[in-house]
Amino acid sequence: MATKLISVASEKGGVGKSTTAVTLAAHLAEHGRTLLVDADERLHSAWKWTTKRDDYAGWPFDTVKYADFNNEMASPYDFVVLDTKGGEGKNELTALSEASNLIIIPCKPDGLSADGLVETLQPLIAGGITNYRVLLTDIPPAPNSDGLDLRLELDAAGIPMFAHGIRHAVAVSKAAREGIRIRDVKGDRYAKLVWMDYELVCREVLRHV
Ligand SMILES: Nc1ncnc2c1ncn2[C@@H]1O[C@H](COP(=O)(O)OP(=O)(O)OP(=O)(O)O)[C@@H](O)[C@H]1O
Ligand SMILES: [Mg+2]
Repeated sequence: MATKLISVASEKGGVGKSTTAVTLAAHLAEHGRTLLVDADERLHSAWKWTTKRDDYAGWPFDTVKYADFNNEMASPYDFVVLDTKGGEGKNELTALSEASNLIIIPCKPDGLSADGLVETLQPLIAGGITNYRVLLTDIPPAPNSDGLDLRLELDAAGIPMFAHGIRHAVAVSKAAREGIRIRDVKGDRYAKLVWMDYELVCREVLRHV
């Protein structure tokens, strides 16, 4: 099958791009050969997370920094997941959408992250661009309804979204610190649940690429 490029991008920082890129790549690797490309030359969070330990065999995909990547390297892979540095406005998103099979735009349901999202994405809808989806991440547990409120707001604005969102769990930052997959964080049952959230998102991704 031809290589599918899945980019993770957002206008706002700290919304879960690297978490999504790393965890989705781990799930996609169950379905085909996968390469994670870290295009955030400022932080390299995804690269650091997945190359931190040499005593850990949990990463089923290859990782490369964008500076060391060229297009020919993509051809043996079924999936290439691109973690971006963020800050993409509508022009960058439009360009990225032309290069990618799918753009995932994570958004946390805090006022700041969601602020301006509809305005950023509206021109994509107006321009007939459809190969992107917003992923709600770090959703606080009930009775907090911020995740639901944001879902309703984006739905009313006609913004395409993943049906599944990613719940909040401290295991996420712990996994990044320890250089392991979220599912391997010990003693936290939310770790497994967040891992399963991403599995459901992976299934949706497979339907859209
Ligand atoms: N589901 C979640 N539950 C709890 N914390 C989360 C979740 N998703 C992301 N985070 C935390 O939010 C912070 C930002 O996540 P991440 O680094 O993935 O975002 P980013 O968009 O890549 O950020 P940047 O713009 O700095 O590259 C991290 O501390 C991460 O651990
Ligand atoms: Mg990042």
